Amino acid sequence: MSKTPIALETRQSDAGRLFSPSAGRNKAVIAAELAEILTQGASVLEIGSGTGEHGIEAVSVRPDLRWQFSDPDAASRASQLAWAVHSEYDFPAPMALDMSDPASRAKVSGSYDAIYSANMVHIAPISALYGLAELAGRVIGEAGQMILYGPFLRGDASAPSNIEFDASLKRRNSTWGVRDLDDVKHIFAKQGFNTMRLRDMPKNNFLLVLSRR
Ligand SMILES: C[S@@+](CC[C@H](N)C(=O)[O-])C[C@H]1O[C@@H](n2cnc3c(N)ncnc32)[C@H](O)[C@@H]1O
Repeated sequence: MSKTPIALETRQSDAGRLFSPSAGRNKAVIAAELAEILTQGASVLEIGSGTGEHGIEAVSVRPDLRWQFSDPDAASRASQLAWAVHSEYDFPAPMALDMSDPASRAKVSGSYDAIYSANMVHIAPISALYGLAELAGRVIGEAGQMILYGPFLRGDASAPSNIEFDASLKRRNSTWGVRDLDDVKHIFAKQGFNTMRLRDMPKNNFLLVLSRR
């Protein structure tokens, strides 16, 4: 893992629960989309859960979901646990999962109806994107979904703000960068995810829903 700080913003804390300003702004709109996309009772593995606010919001909208938090960062996992304890819902203990590390990915057993990962693949080396795709190919059931949220480049159609964000990420860490949508599509297609639905989200972000049919 890179030693570059994982949070691009200052996260406030209350009794162990971290608050991310950006998650505070986007969690409701993401949870509303996830509520439409995820099947009844779906088991969801979240990769790079950060503060845990996305998962808490998703489960508060859809209490039938079975949500597994994860993050390689111990402070983030502690926040996910604090949010889980504070909530009225049951969550299993957050997992320490690093998508760049094959041994870490190997800790994931069984199958999930969906993997959800927000704002992770651009704040990690490209190996994390390949690792995430490998994990998705292995643990997502045949009818399941891989859901990615965040900014993506789209060649000449890239939003100027995403091109600027890409440059600023690379200045912080040369292995980071906003990923190109066609590359992402290709990487997941190699794992059998041949169908991609794209939803426009606020501030030039996207929700990508990848499936095998
Ligand atoms: C910008 S934060 C996003 C947090 C949350 N998903 C959100 O959107 O608010 C990126 C998260 O990805 C995690 N992360 C970084 N590298 C990772 C990797 N190789 N595998 C899994 N998670 C990683 C970081 O620890 C951090 O919590």
